[in-house]
Amino acid sequence: MLTDTLEALRTDLERAIGTVESLDALAEVETKFLGRKGELTNILRQLGELPVEERKAFGQRSNEIKVEAEAWIAAARERLERAVRSAIGETERVDVTEPGTHPTEGHLHIMTQTIREITQIFERIGFYRTRYPEIDWDWYAFESLNMPSDHPARDNWETFFMDAGESKLGKMVLTPHTSNAQGHELERKQFPIRMLNIAKCYRRQSDTTHAPMFHQFEGLYVDRDVNLTHLTGIVKYFVESFFGKTRTFRLRPHHFRFTEPSFEVDVSCGICNATGLTADGQKCRVCKRGWLEIGGCGMTHPNVLKSCNVDPDIYTGLAFGWGIERIAMMKDGINLADIRTLYENDLRFLKQF
Ligand code: DAH
Repeated sequence: MLTDTLEALRTDLERAIGTVESLDALAEVETKFLGRKGELTNILRQLGELPVEERKAFGQRSNEIKVEAEAWIAAARERLERAVRSAIGETERVDVTEPGTHPTEGHLHIMTQTIREITQIFERIGFYRTRYPEIDWDWYAFESLNMPSDHPARDNWETFFMDAGESKLGKMVLTPHTSNAQGHELERKQFPIRMLNIAKCYRRQSDTTHAPMFHQFEGLYVDRDVNLTHLTGIVKYFVESFFGKTRTFRLRPHHFRFTEPSFEVDVSCGICNATGLTADGQKCRVCKRGWLEIGGCGMTHPNVLKSCNVDPDIYTGLAFGWGIERIAMMKDGINLADIRTLYENDLRFLKQF
């Protein structure tokens, strides 16, 4: 009987919806029973087999079942969706209080740190940092600095000459010192000049105390009435700022072609306090004689000014050029067995600074 089939369908449908376990399965059940080609449609198609007087009641009953089924489906869908949401809550929960993973952090190379510190120290007294080529003409590296081409002083510089063309400024060289900046800066004629040139230098040398590439900083102060007291004042200021007030310095007469008079600057050793001896009477391991040499300085030679068309009767200047690797090591009394260690990129070494 068709009525029995209809009631059986209702029972099956109720059970199927009640036990369904996923939204996909629920959609399947819905199509199977209520879809356009589903079982209910199928039954209704057979309506014509019923006696006419029964048809109305049968139609009403099947409609009731359809409405009922839709309510069951809606309830089941809600139940299943809630289950999905709470499963997401479990698997994708974020604990915002959990400590994060820290990215590994690097730090600046000791040379970069030192360069920045030197720059800041000189900026406080009005110096500005300049940059000039590290491959430069012979004229700037030597000639304009009162070092004529046949002068033996040039031998001390152990220069790398470039295999490149020549101009009236001579050959091209890898700058063997930062003093090449003096000519460039003087040519600008923007007085007062208070230049701080920090650059790489290159020399044919490689041993435990020399690297073929190293750094220097070059100061040049040119104005009217610049004199030796300015030079000693600047050296004192730098030594105290960089090494601390417990360190002192001394100027030793020396000879450089581009300054007159010229000096070497020594800073007292921070380990033995300029005595050259350790507390137990041994020779100081770092300095051996109480003092550490940091580099040259002096009053700008009139010929240097003249070579850049600056009148030495109006302007006077002072200059200094010091090695950065050396002063970085001297600061904390670090006695590097091999200065080239600085450029080997061994993190076990670099991490210490
Ligand atoms: N340029 C010299 C060198 O590399 C150092 C130096 C000495 C620079 C005296 C100066 C100076 O400015 O006045 O050895």
